[in-house]
Amino acid sequence: MMSPSLSTIGVLTSGGDAPGMNAAIRAVTRTALYHGVQVIGILNGFDGLINGEFRPLGARDVGGILPRGGTILQTRRSERFFEARYQREAIRHLNEAGIEGLIVIGGEGSMHGAYALSQQGVRVVGIPASIDNDIWGTNMSIGVDTALNTIMDAVDKLRDTASSHNRAFLIETMGRGCGYLAVMAGIICGAEMVLIPEVETKVEEVIAAVEDAYRRGKAHAIILVAEGASIKIHDLAQAIDQADVGFKTRITILGHIQRGGSPTAYDRLLASRMGFKAVETLLAGEHGVMVGLKGRLMETVPLSQVIEHQRAVNMEYYQMARILAR
Ligand code: F6P
Repeated sequence: MMSPSLSTIGVLTSGGDAPGMNAAIRAVTRTALYHGVQVIGILNGFDGLINGEFRPLGARDVGGILPRGGTILQTRRSERFFEARYQREAIRHLNEAGIEGLIVIGGEGSMHGAYALSQQGVRVVGIPASIDNDIWGTNMSIGVDTALNTIMDAVDKLRDTASSHNRAFLIETMGRGCGYLAVMAGIICGAEMVLIPEVETKVEEVIAAVEDAYRRGKAHAIILVAEGASIKIHDLAQAIDQADVGFKTRITILGHIQRGGSPTAYDRLLASRMGFKAVETLLAGEHGVMVGLKGRLMETVPLSQVIEHQRAVNMEYYQMARILAR
């Protein structure tokens, strides 16, 4: 596979950061340089593209970043980029800098931005990165595995103290629109109950589950609450305490800890494969696509399809979490 027409590509990170973004930037840069293609890093996501905030990336610029969380290019959630006039401004900067192909690393919103540019003739390839794992067209997004490991570590620690005091812990995970992290954490951490935006759960059901756990002689109850669940965690704690079911409650909001930290082996490998594949895709003359993991293979999927769907939580896993909690 050779590059007859590309001499310079750009790379940016956008949306919420995800552990492994740096590994992807490194893979993009080194793969491109291997093929004799120059790389320009675009700072601050699509905002930086609008402003023309560019920085050339050499092989040494991406040295040592593989194990680092966050993104060396910085990231933003750009409101301006939804407007056509700012998109035109971004394209003008791309042309002036001689950037002939663009790699966008980010979440669902970022894939919308990537698609908008591709509709206007920019050669774009997307790389899915979001701890929420809600991007359609890939089994896994960059950052999910690290976030799950962070949650697992935290819940394991909280269970120790919950058991010692015979308490019910209500633990909030990220995911304002998607319960993936809470459901998977429910399975790998052994939660009594998981509350997610996709499933309407009544306060009474949660109280009954906590009481049931107490009656069955459990030393603690762990309730995982996704950020976007309809029941608010503080109201829930109050209701459980008032019901006096045996366990007293404590609340822990895991928050942005879930987005930081050194990427796991899985995320480093996934990000490296995706960065590599994204550059090879551009060089093969394919664009307007996102790279995605299908089974064991790294494939491409049209951005037009990615933005039309949302990757839904597999409800079999939700059921499994409930059954295994018995
Ligand atoms: O999209 C990733 C995510 O971490 C969500 O899980 C979370 O709801 C949101 O970003 C938080 O965004 P912010 O960092 O802008 O508060």
